[in-house]
Amino acid sequence: MSDVSIEAQRRRTFAIISHPDAGKTTLTEKLLLFGGAIQMAGSVKGRKAARHATSDWMALEKERGISVTSSVMQFPYEGRIVNLLDTPGHADFGEDTYRVLTAVDSALMVIDVAKGVEERTIKLMEVCRLRDTPIMTFINKLDREGKPPIDLLDEVESVLGIQCAPITSPIGMGQRLKGVVHLITGEVHLYEQGRNFTRQDSTIFASLEDPALEARIGTDMLQELRDELELVQGASHPFDPAAYLAGRQTPVFFGSAVNNFGVQLLLDFFVDHAPPPRPRATTGREIAPYEPQLSGFVFKIQANMDPQHRDRVAFMRICSGKFSAGMKAFHARTGKEVKLANALTFMASDREIAESAWPGDVIGIHNHGTISIGDSFTEGEMLAFTGIPNFAPELFRRARLRDPLKLKQLQKGLAQLSEEGATQFFRPLMSNDLVLGAVGMLQFDVVAYRLKDEYGVDASFEQVNVATARWIRCPDAKKLEEFRDKNAMNLSLDAAGQLVYLAPTRVNLQLAQERSPGVEFLATREHA
Ligand code: G4P
Repeated sequence: MSDVSIEAQRRRTFAIISHPDAGKTTLTEKLLLFGGAIQMAGSVKGRKAARHATSDWMALEKERGISVTSSVMQFPYEGRIVNLLDTPGHADFGEDTYRVLTAVDSALMVIDVAKGVEERTIKLMEVCRLRDTPIMTFINKLDREGKPPIDLLDEVESVLGIQCAPITSPIGMGQRLKGVVHLITGEVHLYEQGRNFTRQDSTIFASLEDPALEARIGTDMLQELRDELELVQGASHPFDPAAYLAGRQTPVFFGSAVNNFGVQLLLDFFVDHAPPPRPRATTGREIAPYEPQLSGFVFKIQANMDPQHRDRVAFMRICSGKFSAGMKAFHARTGKEVKLANALTFMASDREIAESAWPGDVIGIHNHGTISIGDSFTEGEMLAFTGIPNFAPELFRRARLRDPLKLKQLQKGLAQLSEEGATQFFRPLMSNDLVLGAVGMLQFDVVAYRLKDEYGVDASFEQVNVATARWIRCPDAKKLEEFRDKNAMNLSLDAAGQLVYLAPTRVNLQLAQERSPGVEFLATREHA
């Protein structure tokens, strides 16, 4: 096997999806602890706090209790390399999250035992389904009273439409929590308050039949457990690796992230069964991860990560080949060679300069606005990875400057912030307005805050008469010109210079479409 195959097979690249407060941050922290990436529980929060101190706009994030930025954390575990891509937590940032999910090979869904399947989980699950992403489930907060396991499994199956294969099953819950049973190995792992729950310090019984277990948890509890297990197993499915990999079945674990209970069982199973990088579709051919030449695509751009340096970091997911520090790569959209100097890796402890990286890994490339979301890099082959769309925004506002002399900074700020992909920026052909489109209201606040903080521009956003946007495509140049002349009042250019129709009403859009045969009105624009 080549180095690329070996390294690709070792990679597990995933994201955690959950409703806010289900325990994503806590679980992330425990996973990093097992990976040896952090020494002490609490470091993720500590890190969050440290970042708040250095970057003021994150005060907004803190105020609102949301996570606007996302990061990449890499750690080794049991001979594997795990890449955990953080997804933004707030519902307003769906589009951003969507793109993170295009860069992973699987996902982990966290559900609160008391709340069950919540609205945000449903949305994220829909996104995973678009690509048949394999999903594992962790039902969290078992140390609190919650819904009966059988009801939770049923809820996941009926609401999310995916088969459940419980791998662990709880023994009691809340005050009566005694532990979990591993349904594949038969082992019983006891819950004892104050323990750290690594394999070394857990109390583990080989099976339910172990007489010492009965002595420990009592005859009544054991009988209750047997009855419940019968119910759970009767109503669910045995683990089927093929169904999991096809996104039709989710292995389910129970535990308590804050107590680190049940987490190692999850992680052990995850590294064994979650998929390594898989082949990916491009405009040309399918790219297999073990191909020797480097390829990858940009799924996220973050401006001003370090306020000291006005750089933008493009996050590239490697799809094939090997990245080595300082190598040159071909930027497929511009047709130019780019030196990938000082690329960053994202070890959970810190940002570091990357020496090498492999399929499934993410590297951060510094740039000054030449790289856009969706861009592909290769070693010369002209191709573009597909499936990273820009959605038509649903909310629009016109930027209004309090100091008209700051127009240049405003334009620059809006253009750069829209590169991150959470908002989109339009310049109408017939006016000097600057129109911003977003999928959630909160994004306008975030942009106003960051304009002030990072660009020194005091701007506000006001109502504008736009209901929806459509990207225009027309292969016939003459027809396109006619269309442009006739509809100039409603046309804008987006940040990439593409023509967009901004419709004041849905009816207007419908009429424009009827009057323009041969012109396509697209609700998403595929990058590249
Ligand atoms: P999120 O990233 O999904 O939004 O959730 P996060 O991990 O921040 O957890 C949300 C709250 O739930 C936190 O409490 C956290 O401590 C708590 N939590 C996480 N896992 C468990 C668990 O297994 N059992 C119990 N009982 N609670 C859990 P908080 O009060 O908001 O924050 P903190 O003050 O405890 O840090």
